[in-house]
Amino acid sequence: MDSRTSRQDEVGKHEESGLGRGRASALANANIALIKYWGKADEALIIPRTSSLSLTLDGLSTETTVEFVGNGRGAMPPAQRDLPGVPDRTSGPRVAASASSGRDSLTIDGVQQSGKVLDRVSKVLDLVRAQAGINAPAHVSSTNTVPYGAGLASSSSAFAALAGAAAQAAGLRPSRRELSRLARRGSGSACRSVYGGLVKWNAGHDDASSYAEPVDNSMDLAIVVILISNREKHVSSRDAMVRTIATSPLYESWVQQSGKDLDEALAAISTGDLERLGAVVEANAMGMHAAMIASRPPTLYWLPETIRALGAVEELRGQGLPAWSTMDAGPNVKVLTSGRDAERLADELRSMLPACRVQVHRPGAGLRVFDESGVREAELVGQAGSLAPLLSR
Ligand code: PMV
Repeated sequence: MDSRTSRQDEVGKHEESGLGRGRASALANANIALIKYWGKADEALIIPRTSSLSLTLDGLSTETTVEFVGNGRGAMPPAQRDLPGVPDRTSGPRVAASASSGRDSLTIDGVQQSGKVLDRVSKVLDLVRAQAGINAPAHVSSTNTVPYGAGLASSSSAFAALAGAAAQAAGLRPSRRELSRLARRGSGSACRSVYGGLVKWNAGHDDASSYAEPVDNSMDLAIVVILISNREKHVSSRDAMVRTIATSPLYESWVQQSGKDLDEALAAISTGDLERLGAVVEANAMGMHAAMIASRPPTLYWLPETIRALGAVEELRGQGLPAWSTMDAGPNVKVLTSGRDAERLADELRSMLPACRVQVHRPGAGLRVFDESGVREAELVGQAGSLAPLLSR
């Protein structure tokens, strides 16, 4: 069977099942990296320089609905059929040169978006459109329980949810691994939110080898988020990474160390040793910030309250509470602890840091995808291979 026939069979099967007729939604939780991703080996494909490790959290989520106009299967206007780069369903998948960018619409928390934010979403939609052989623009609406762009990993839940909803709405049935690769193309960290709990992102060396996978463990973990500011960051993580790689004399040594840190973290997880895990988690994040602070000009996300929070965590650890800090591209501090101690730790932090909002987050589930009714949950065991031809380009 040639790829075209099998793809058409695939689409037919889904149409019969009633799933994937142009509209679907998905729910994804944000993840916080324990061993960080900072810097790309390939900017276009978003292949990272280092492998990373994260914890997907409950209560920091994005729900996204994607609707391809005209059920996504609408006939392509005749004038467009022969345009180079516009995919034609009858002739197998081709990469659409931004077939519908600019025509998509996006609302985030009810606010209409345009410019760079919409462009990033359209790029992911273009990958899906090209694979599904459709050319319809999409309406995307997204609601978050995580403040957007404030270093609280909103892009991880956002692009995981977008990948799941868009693939489903287009009638594709990718495997979780393929969804992880698709989500990665929107935002690197999003590939990890396809899975729940502890997740490792294998850096890989090309598109096919750069994906996330769950890490078996029996640890009782939680993250206490100390919210210092929910204002959007002044430098995007994307720009800050580029600057760090190009100008920071500390970056290469962080990359070398990060590989060892990941091995150390995985060894700690395999023996359930929280103290050993916490120590390397904190060191890895501080190393990443040291590298970005040393870039020229420096990238400093910290605020005065950040230092106070880091000090409070160290003090509480000195008193015997399990608590180790980590930080992302923003001023907020996230504290790794045990599920058992999380509430007590949060109470202590609230009284030491009255200006901050402190919240406990426990491990959360991976990506969930729903059909157009928003009720029936799609299984994500899908046919491995339904996105493969496109993603491996
Ligand atoms: O996926 P991005 O482009 O939002 O980058 C995320 C980078 C960090 O949050 C700082 C680290 C990580 O691994 O999530």
